[in-house]
Formats: sequence, C-alpha cells, structure tokens
Amino acid sequence: VSSSLETPRERLLRKARVQIWELVGERGCRVELLNAGARASLFRCFLRGRCSVIAKVYCKSTKGARHEWDALRFLAAHAPLIAPIAPRPLERSKDGRVILMEDLEGETLTSLLERDGGLDAKRPLLRVAHALGLLHGTAAKCLNMLPRSLRNEYIRQSDESETLRDRVRALLQRAAVAPAAGFDIAWQELVERLRSPGEFLTFTHGDLAPSNVLMTADGPKLLDFEFAGARSSLYDALFWEAIVPFPRALARAMTQKYRDTLTGDIPKARDDDRFRHELSTLKTHRLFWSLTFRLDHALASRDSDWVPGWPLRPAYLFYLRNYVVTCRRLDSLEPLLQTAEVLYARLRKQWAENASYPENFMRGARRTS
Ligand SMILES: Nc1ncnc2c1ncn2[C@@H]1O[C@H](COP(=O)(O)OP(=O)(O)O)[C@@H](O)[C@H]1O
Ligand SMILES: [Mg+2]
Repeated sequence: VSSSLETPRERLLRKARVQIWELVGERGCRVELLNAGARASLFRCFLRGRCSVIAKVYCKSTKGARHEWDALRFLAAHAPLIAPIAPRPLERSKDGRVILMEDLEGETLTSLLERDGGLDAKRPLLRVAHALGLLHGTAAKCLNMLPRSLRNEYIRQSDESETLRDRVRALLQRAAVAPAAGFDIAWQELVERLRSPGEFLTFTHGDLAPSNVLMTADGPKLLDFEFAGARSSLYDALFWEAIVPFPRALARAMTQKYRDTLTGDIPKARDDDRFRHELSTLKTHRLFWSLTFRLDHALASRDSDWVPGWPLRPAYLFYLRNYVVTCRRLDSLEPLLQTAEVLYARLRKQWAENASYPENFMRGARRTS
C-alpha cells in the first residue's frame, strides 16, 4: 500500500517488488534490496524451495540494460567454456528493464581488498587475471556469435576519440601546456589503432572495477555487463594497468599472468612488440580520456576527490606518472607521451600535492611489493 510517509527506499522496493513478482511468477515472495544505484538497483528474491535469484532493475530501458542481457546470454549460450565466468541469465521483462539471474555466493574484490590492507589480495587477483585471459581468448574465437548490439563498441570508441582530441587540447590550454609537435598526427594514429585491434579483438566486460568481481568457491565471476562489447582485449586489462592504483609490481604480475593465459588462444599476444603496441594504445587513450573527467576541477581547486580518500590532484599525478613511466618502454605514440610528460612536470610544479595512493588503499601490500 503506498503512503506519503514512505521513504524513497521503501518506494523503490515496493515498485520493484511488483515487477519482480510478476517475472518470477511467485506473488508474495521475499524481496531484499542489495544495492540502489543511479542507473539500476539490485535485489535478492527468495523463491519457494529455498532457492534465491538476483533481480537487476534498471530505471529505464537503456542500451546498458540491453547490453547486460545480451552479454549474459552470449556468455551462457555460445561459449560453454566461459559460461562460468558470469551469472546465468534466467529471465527478462518485456520492456527489458528487469533482468533475473543466478544468485552467486562469494565476496566482492572490494571487500577482499579492504581486508588486512590487501595483504591477501595477490593470489585472488592473479586468478582474476587468468580468468580474464581465458574469457578473452575463448570469446575471440566465437565473435561471429556475438549479438549485434555488442559488435561495434571499439568502432564507436574510435569515432568518439576524434572529438575527444579537441576537448583534450582545450584542457591542455587551460593547464598552459602546448601539445608536442606532431600531436595531431599521433592522435590520428591513436584513432586508427583503436579502430583496428586485429587479433586482440574480443568480447570485453568494459567496466571492470572491484565491485564487479565476485570471488566464489568456483573461481572469479564477473558482474555488471552494462558496458560490455567488442573491443581490444587490453581494454579490460586497464582495470589493473591504469584504473585501480595497484602497486606497480602487482599490476605487472597480473599483466604477465593475463598474457600467459591469453597466448593460449591468441598466439600473437606472445609477440612483445605487438603486445606493447596494443597496451600502449589502450593506455594512451585512457590517460587522455580520463583528463576530461575532472582535470578542469583539479586545475580550479584542490577540494574535490577522485574517490573518497583520494583527492583529485594526487590522483591525477598518480595516473600521469604511471602512464609516463610505464609507456616509456612501450611502443608509444611519441608526441602524445611527450605531451603527457610536460603536463606531468607542469602540474607537479604548480601543485603543492604529490602523486599518492588513496588513503589506506592496500597499505599492507604496498609495503611488501
Ligand atoms: N548475480 C549476482 N549474485 C550475487 N551478487 C550480485 C549479483 N549481481 C550483483 N550482485 C551484487 O550487487 C552489487 C551491484 O551489482 P551490479 O550489477 O554491479 O550493479 P551496479 O550496476 O549498480 O554497479 C555487486 O557488487 C554484487 O555485490
Ligand atoms: Mg557494478
């Protein structure tokens, strides 16, 4: 019964409950809210016979909702080997907003990384890297089975990079950094490289974050396929190479593990030059793209955080340093690398802050790596 005294959470639960009951065909079963996000909310429903399922309820019928369902179906149906990497899809509402899937038991990487300063994280992380290598390698062989909705992500990204260049140039200007000679030509090469991942083209998760990885007794499982699609496999490796600020030695070990596994299905990944070329392409795109997220805020004030416990300026300095240090040895797009180096030097001089890790992030592991 609706009431004006309802809290937003109660209202969300009441509305979702009706949709979920309809879909599972069990009116009155217990429905628990797990997580309320901006685009979707997650529920656990307890069915008769003591089994439970997860319902993901999107606020709108978006492209993301469709990608998630298509990705889960692809993983379950066309590549039996890789099916266990994700929850089994069970049912979807007619409007596409509600997705029912298998309820997996496990611990998210978020909680694992918080435990004991991340001291226990290395082995599980290497398992994730291995599982990802298997997923990418297996999926690369059945790309012709990929649903149409997921096929062109890499082309879209390449197209968007054409306009990204102008936004990056505007930001550089605000930071009083002149792009290195040959910047535009190198950028055009970046656009073309993104468009032609060659042997590395595969099904990617697209949003790897610690909260989207569940460690189960049956190995690591990936959740949340809203941004899934065909891309260079190394897009997902950015998870540890360029997004989560893992200690460098750990990130290197994950890439090694990942690459060893990937090589089983994509022999080209064994070729050092080719692998570096691909990794530097993806890292370069990520670095410049990430400048457009919040660099303008960071230039204007020192007050906001990248994530809680990690102010914007130390975070940007961390990412820039990580990029210039690791891409110096890769097959880099020289003028883009030089520009990032100049930007890094300028911001270090201009800001009082230093590059740092997020407060308390993997403290234990940082000491030992
Ligand atoms: N199939 C599942 N089994 C168990 N827990 C799940 C499942 N799907 C999601 N969860 C839990 O819900 C959280 C949010 O799910 P996710 O799909 O990532 O939603 P969002 O799009 O809001 O990030 C996950 O971090 C995980 O803890
Ligand atoms: Mg998520």
